[in-house]
Amino acid sequence: MNSEEAAARINYLVKSLNHHNFLYYQQAAPSISDLEFDQLLAELQLLENQFPEFQQPDSPTLRVGGEVTRNFKTVAHDFPFLSLSNSYSREDLEEFDQRIRKSVNQSFSYVCELKFDGVAIGLQYEQGLFTKAVTRGDGVQGDEVTANIKTIQSIPLKLQGSGFPDQFEIRGEIFMPLKSFESLNKNRRAELEDLGYDEEQVAEKLFKNPRNAAAGSIKMQESAEVAKRKLDCFMYAMMGDFPGTESHYDNLMLAKQWGFKVSEFSKQCANLDEVYAFINKWDVDRDQLPFDIDGIVVKVNEYAVQRVLGSTAKSPRWAIAYKFKARQAKTILDKITYQVGRTGSITPVANLRAVFLAGTTVKRASLHNADFIAEMDIREGDTVYVEKGGEIIPKVVAVEASMRDLFSEPHQYITHCPECGTELIRHEGEANHYCPNDATCPPQLTGRISHFVSRKAMDINSMGEKTIELLVREGLVSNVADLYDLKFEQIIQLEGFKEQSTRNIIEGIEASKLIPFERVLFAIGIRYVGETVAKKLALHFRNIHAIAHADVQSLLEAEEIGEIIAKSVQGFFGNQNNQLLLDRLKSAGLQFQLDEEAYKPKSNLLEGKSFVVSGVFSLFSRDELKKKIEENGGKVLSGVSASTSYLVAGEKMGPEKRKKAEKLNVAVISEQEFVEMIS
Ligand code: IVH
Repeated sequence: MNSEEAAARINYLVKSLNHHNFLYYQQAAPSISDLEFDQLLAELQLLENQFPEFQQPDSPTLRVGGEVTRNFKTVAHDFPFLSLSNSYSREDLEEFDQRIRKSVNQSFSYVCELKFDGVAIGLQYEQGLFTKAVTRGDGVQGDEVTANIKTIQSIPLKLQGSGFPDQFEIRGEIFMPLKSFESLNKNRRAELEDLGYDEEQVAEKLFKNPRNAAAGSIKMQESAEVAKRKLDCFMYAMMGDFPGTESHYDNLMLAKQWGFKVSEFSKQCANLDEVYAFINKWDVDRDQLPFDIDGIVVKVNEYAVQRVLGSTAKSPRWAIAYKFKARQAKTILDKITYQVGRTGSITPVANLRAVFLAGTTVKRASLHNADFIAEMDIREGDTVYVEKGGEIIPKVVAVEASMRDLFSEPHQYITHCPECGTELIRHEGEANHYCPNDATCPPQLTGRISHFVSRKAMDINSMGEKTIELLVREGLVSNVADLYDLKFEQIIQLEGFKEQSTRNIIEGIEASKLIPFERVLFAIGIRYVGETVAKKLALHFRNIHAIAHADVQSLLEAEEIGEIIAKSVQGFFGNQNNQLLLDRLKSAGLQFQLDEEAYKPKSNLLEGKSFVVSGVFSLFSRDELKKKIEENGGKVLSGVSASTSYLVAGEKMGPEKRKKAEKLNVAVISEQEFVEMIS
């Protein structure tokens, strides 16, 4: 393809992909399949790599992220970023309405909008192109988070139609749809559980609600990570004068024409009664929305009236937020039961008489730990109030003591494990009780085995949760080493097993003997040793013997290993049962040393040379580039120093790095020059 053809094709692909994005994200009416879309996008990416001079400012490839922004630049707002005053009742709204009527004597109407529960953002456009995104900050200045915001597909990089001012700002709310939030937390939970965190620690590390998740996401350092978070954005006001629009509602419609995502639920209301009707409707219907709202915003529609009313230092006098109350329901707590996690941690659970709350039927609520139950004096048989705030898991917020049975007794927290009967322990300073019987307590056993066979560990995918439970129950397996002693005849006689399913299991177990050492190290379930840490340990120590005999000091010398992990590793190998288990796994034929062949340098072209990699690259991701350096015998350093041989500079590399490299006489090379070095 010559450059003229490439320019034309890039032009076409950008237009077409942006149109499909618009249909998909704003109209919810895609006209091509995801696969077709991905193919066109891949073609565009390839052409842009070959002809970077033709990349367009609104190219959809800019949305996938890649820029690393260490610190966000502070930017002053052109218009102060005001907030809204709150109201909680009809009386508050009446007062708001009366105040306006006292100040103005012209007639006016309202616009009611959903109050999206997310993070405020201001987007700047120049000549119809998106240039800058700034957070609210302190209202006077905020953080520039443009690269991250570009990953949000419903924000147009280039406006549609015509007539927009040369330069203007539009404001709106970034939010995380409930689906994205749930899957984000689900993945996070799986990762944390795999690391051996107990329920209390997991709960602490999960995002509490979609708003926190959205706020955390737009401040992430790597926009490629933000892209995975699937954020969205509703715009609610364009700033400044827009000729031809005399009202807020006109302004919203204009924004929509230009390609912004504007809520279809905003409504013009002639009077307060219509405002109340809107509020009442959404107080009920909000449960059906695919995102969280925390109230309704009531705005005077006519700009002429808005101008007369003006603003205080904090908020406009022409708008007010009506905040919904958290959804509560009253029900009976039938029984307190206890769950035992993979690490033995105990979580008390309230089993409730089923009650409908915020769109779902609630039957259970977490009671956290013994202190929570004691402090609230929660008893079986009590009438309790459960609430679903922004959080997904409902919580017990109050006990209706007046309805308590005369003979009810304070709840006695269990002293022994409900699964195996072992006496529970509670470490000083920790909120949770533990079952210390990690050798035979069934949920601890099955939990450990499930982790061992999981995809990222030994990948014995023929063995599901149910099979593991069955094997444990039948006494065939009580630890991961027992898996390797299982015989065909033992499995086939189990309920539900036929020839093929039995063979699958036996073959899956056999195949797992080839799984590389770093994954075996992850699979054996050392607390706090996740996939990455296992890899670092394996690379640093090369075999299990070296890890097992390392003292804390030498463990700390490995990359990314801190005190907590080092102590946990030492504790694991110091335990005699674990040693016996490892001996058996070793005899079964599992990999206990690094496959040196796989990690052997492919060439020694870069031997003796050290590299710092910075910026965004077009042929490789940063990690791929680092791998290439190591594969060819080079060393990767994190910062430029006098001993650095080369700084590989990608796009958008900070100027400071380049300055430092030049000062220290370190050669600065491009991605292309690097490729030439190794080819
Ligand atoms: S208008 C000057 N409309 O609520 C008026 N705000 O304190 C500024 N919010 O974080 C706000 N949905 O980002 C407006 N439909 C809506 C909104 C909305 C959510 C947020 C806003 C700010 C807070 C107001």
